[in-house]
Amino acid sequence: MSDKPNLVVLTGAGISAESGLSTFRDNNGLWNEYSVYEVATPEAWQQNPELVLEFYNQRRREVRQAQPNAAHQAISDAEADFEVTVVTQNVDNLHERAGSSQVLHVHGLITLARSSINEQVFELHDKDIQLGDHCPAGSQLRPHVVWFGEMVYHMDAAAQAISKADYLLVIGTSLSVFPAAGLVDEAPVEAHKALINKEADNVPPGFEVFQGSAAQLTPQILQAYPKQT
Ligand code: NAD
Ligand code: APR
Repeated sequence: MSDKPNLVVLTGAGISAESGLSTFRDNNGLWNEYSVYEVATPEAWQQNPELVLEFYNQRRREVRQAQPNAAHQAISDAEADFEVTVVTQNVDNLHERAGSSQVLHVHGLITLARSSINEQVFELHDKDIQLGDHCPAGSQLRPHVVWFGEMVYHMDAAAQAISKADYLLVIGTSLSVFPAAGLVDEAPVEAHKALINKEADNVPPGFEVFQGSAAQLTPQILQAYPKQT
């Protein structure tokens, strides 16, 4: 049993913005360029699988080109002083590539493909998913990404981790999409709660707000947290 304090970090698209990956609802966000209903719903997948595959193939190529930024790195470095659980809405793998060892992807992981008829997932390595790529059970492979209307992953584990948090740090999310956004309510009253965001327009009660860049503020804030003496 570790005597390190528990730190849970809940992240959204904003933590990866400074790695060059588009957010969803900023001015140049993905949902301004694409309609959710064309590329991120089960209906879109039925109607136009090629467009959906190309949308995620393009985002996957961008993820492969991107590098973790100082925010991802600071969260990984915090494992020296905290039991760290990362709960991320992001489908990029920048937390893992920065060295974080406990990452819960509630919306899936774009570097994996999934069978369309079961939960089997497959590492894509440097490949895209094309129409006609089938799983061993013979179904078309799809991106291992949660679409609107689908169930999200790891919610029990995420809620469990947050319910035991000594520190909860929310970074780069508009907290506008449920059920992920509702996880902030699982934190114990006595937990230290802080939020880093470029805009401070949706802050749950009890959270200390740090408005600005995730890459600049995350290292500063984690450095200021009391360390085990
Ligand atoms: P939800 O109903 O809880 O969220 C719907 C949200 O989607 C809305 O609050 C709004 O923020 C957004 N939205 C809906 N239509 C939109 C539009 N036209 N333009 C921009 N934003 C729009 O989510 P759900 O429908 O129950 O989906 C289940 C889960 O799937 C959610 O947690 C969602 O975050 C996730 N998801 C993941 C991806 C992805 O690419 N990773 C894409 C879509 C949804
Ligand atoms: N530093 C800090 N915050 C930032 C930065 C930055 N450099 N850049 C953007 N932000 C903030 C924006 O102000 C916004 O509040 O990050 C937030 C990003 O919010 P969204 O674009 O809504 O992304 P997210 O909250 O992750 O969306 C949740 O919606 O479409 C679904 O499944 C998809 O996981 C996604 C979910």
